[in-house]
Amino acid sequence: MNPVRVGIVGLGRLGRRHAENLAWHVPGAKLAAACSPVREEREWAASGVPELALYADYDELLADASIDAVWLVTPTSLHARQIIAALRAGKHVFCEKPLSLDLAECDAVIEAHARHPHLQVMIGFVRRFDASYRDAFDGIAKGVIGRPFMVRSQTCDKNDPDGFFVRFAPTSGGLFLDCSVHDIDLARWLLGNPRPKRVVASGTIAIHEGLRECGDIDNGVGTIEFDDGRLAVLYASRTMAHGHDTQTEVIGTAGALSVGRNPRANRVEIADAQGMRNTCTPTFFERFEDAFLREAQAFVVSLTHGTPTGLTLDDAREATRIGIAMREAYERGRAVEL
Ligand SMILES: NC(=O)c1ccc[n+]([C@@H]2O[C@H](COP(=O)([O-])OP(=O)(O)OC[C@H]3O[C@@H](n4cnc5c(N)ncnc54)[C@H](O)[C@@H]3O)[C@@H](O)[C@H]2O)c1
Repeated sequence: MNPVRVGIVGLGRLGRRHAENLAWHVPGAKLAAACSPVREEREWAASGVPELALYADYDELLADASIDAVWLVTPTSLHARQIIAALRAGKHVFCEKPLSLDLAECDAVIEAHARHPHLQVMIGFVRRFDASYRDAFDGIAKGVIGRPFMVRSQTCDKNDPDGFFVRFAPTSGGLFLDCSVHDIDLARWLLGNPRPKRVVASGTIAIHEGLRECGDIDNGVGTIEFDDGRLAVLYASRTMAHGHDTQTEVIGTAGALSVGRNPRANRVEIADAQGMRNTCTPTFFERFEDAFLREAQAFVVSLTHGTPTGLTLDDAREATRIGIAMREAYERGRAVEL
C-alpha cells in the first residue's frame, strides 16, 4: 500500500513536534510537504526532512496533487477556513484543537465535510490517545467505579514569564477555549456524552495583566451541569510554579479513579532536608509526547484501514459550544443555559 502523503501546515511550537513524528515515527505516512509563511520555519523543515516540498502559501500546498492529507497546526482562528479549503481540494484533514472559536464556523466545517464524505477530518483531542486516560475510559466502561457522575479536571501550565501565551491570546480564544476545551472533551467522553444543560464560570488575573487588553484571564474555574445530573468541575491556569499539571478525577457510585494526580516527570524521587519530592513535567508536550504519536498513528490507520478514531466533528463542535458558554458565563457573571 502506498504511504499517505502528508503536508504539514504550521511549524511553530507544536507543528515541529508533529512534523518530527510524521517524518520518522508514523508507519504508513510520508511527510511530503511543509507550509509556513515564516522562512526560518521552512528552513528548519528543509534541514531535517529529505525530499520535502516547501510552500510559503497554503493554497499552493493545496494545489499539490501529490498530497493526500493536510496536518493543520496553525493558529486556532484559521482552522475552520483551512479545513474547508482542504476538503474542497480533495485532502483528508488532521487539525489541532479546537475546531473553531465560533459555532457557525463549526457548522460550516460539518456541512463541508458532508459534501465530501469520502474524506476524513479529525480534530486532535490528544488526551483520548494517552494510555492512562484510555485505561481510565476502559475501566469506567467496565463499571469499576459504578455509575460515574462527576469529573474534576484541570489543565494547568507552568508560568511563562516571557508571556508567550499573552501574545497568543488574541487568536487562542482565551483560557476556556484554549485549555479547558481539553477537559470539556474529556468530561464528555468519560461520562458517556451526556447533554450539557447549564454552565457557570469565573476567573481572575493572578499574574499576567497584559491579558486584560483582550479580555482574557490566567486562572479560571467552571462547572458544567448535564441533563441527567452528571457534573464536571474544571480548572485551568497559566501560572503554576511547579510545571505542567494536568490531572483528572472521575467519581462514581462505587469508587473513583484519577489520572495524573502527581504530575511527575519520571519515577525519580528525591529525599532530602526539604522532604520527599519529584520533578514535574515542564510542558504539555513532555506529558503527552506518547499521546501525540499515538494520535498521529491512529489517524493514519483510519485513513489506510478505515478504523474509526472514535472522535467526530460533532464531538469537536460540542467542545467549542461548551467552551464558548464557559467564556460567556465568566464575562456575564451568571449562568449560561445551553
Ligand atoms: N493538543 C494540544 O495539547 C495543543 C497544545 C498546543 C497547541 N495546540 C494547538 O495547536 C495550534 C498551534 O499552536 P502553536 O502553539 O504551535 O502555535 P504557534 O504560534 O507556535 O505556531 C503557529 C504556526 O502557524 C503558522 N502559520 C500562521 N499563519 C499561517 C498561515 N496562514 N498558513 C500557514 N501557516 C501559518 C506560523 O508560522 C506557525 O508556524 C493551535 O490551534 C493550538 O490550540 C494544541
